[in-house]
Amino acid sequence: GRQIRKYDDKVIDHYENPRNVGSLNKNDKNVGTGLVGAPACGDVMKLQIRVDENGEIIESAFKTFGCGSAIASSSLATEWVKGRNVNDATKIKNSDIAKELKLPPVKLHCSMLAEDAIKAAVKDLKTKQDTFAPSS
Ligand code: FES
Ligand code: FES
Repeated sequence: GRQIRKYDDKVIDHYENPRNVGSLNKNDKNVGTGLVGAPACGDVMKLQIRVDENGEIIESAFKTFGCGSAIASSSLATEWVKGRNVNDATKIKNSDIAKELKLPPVKLHCSMLAEDAIKAAVKDLKTKQDTFAPSS
């Protein structure tokens, strides 16, 4: 019979082989943690970044309790933020993620979660780096 393809191969790939699953030490002053939830469905995404002294993201990790599209979106987000300056990372748009993964309209909020998580992680990092700034 004819196969009904609901999801793009990229979603399935990121869902079955998610990149950078795990946690970074949230007490590290070079680590920013973003924890966001989607009110629509109750899914939760944690995305973390670790920067070097120049503010370049050298590591990223995520844990997502949610649907396949949310997992794929966060996996892709961790790949995209790596190597970027924190300020560039916040320019990643949910529409770019949705386009890359060819998400259907009903799943757009899943990629929104990834955009929000990146922004939250950067915000957390900036708050911490102020806190930890040398008081010379
Ligand atoms: Fe069920 Fe997202 S709505 S996992
Ligand atoms: Fe809610 Fe995907 S994050 S359905």
